[in-house]
Amino acid sequence: MADANMTEDVPNTVSRRNFIKGVIAAGATVSSASYLFRSTTLLGQPSTPGAVERLVTLSVNGQQRRVDVMKQETLAMTLRYKLGLTGTKLGCDRSECGACTVLIDDVPHYSCSVLTHTVRGRKIVTIEGLADADGRLHPVQQGVIDEQGFQCAFCMPGFVMATVGFLKTNPNPTRAELAHGISGNLCRCQDYNKILTAMMRGAENMRRT
Ligand code: FES
Ligand code: FES
Repeated sequence: MADANMTEDVPNTVSRRNFIKGVIAAGATVSSASYLFRSTTLLGQPSTPGAVERLVTLSVNGQQRRVDVMKQETLAMTLRYKLGLTGTKLGCDRSECGACTVLIDDVPHYSCSVLTHTVRGRKIVTIEGLADADGRLHPVQQGVIDEQGFQCAFCMPGFVMATVGFLKTNPNPTRAELAHGISGNLCRCQDYNKILTAMMRGAENMRRT
């Protein structure tokens, strides 16, 4: 009955079914047009001045990774949810806990507070990039194994990355110096003494190698 009314409202041969088909076809045409004429070209280069390039190349753990990122996307989000590098943890997501620490050009950074667009052309290393190609752990990772320094270990990748970065500037720190150097990392299990022992063992392992 409703169909009959609709066809009556749209006189001269336009049935309800054909009317809906027409609307869908028009929508598909608009979508195609916006895809073809979007502001980013296929190679990810902005076609208009001031446009933000979405398809970027990142250097992550020695590999060039092509990835589509939003302009407001953080490096932590890109690493975890676009590149599958979930060793980088998200704790606070606001620069307080250090769980998301990665190295950018050998310097530890909170990846939750770095926009991915800003690190194009820079060298990013995550916890997944520390071990050798043959699977041998980095000396600081080995220190974690040697000392069993963590409880739940959620914070562990951040501590390891912060320590690896710190040891690049001070390879032979005192316990107090290392404690200060990685004080930007928090542990909810609060076993800081054991963590520090493990990180000191890692430093020792590094000097041996
Ligand atoms: S998740 Fe980045 S500092 Fe806490
Ligand atoms: S060992 Fe559990 S958060 Fe650090």
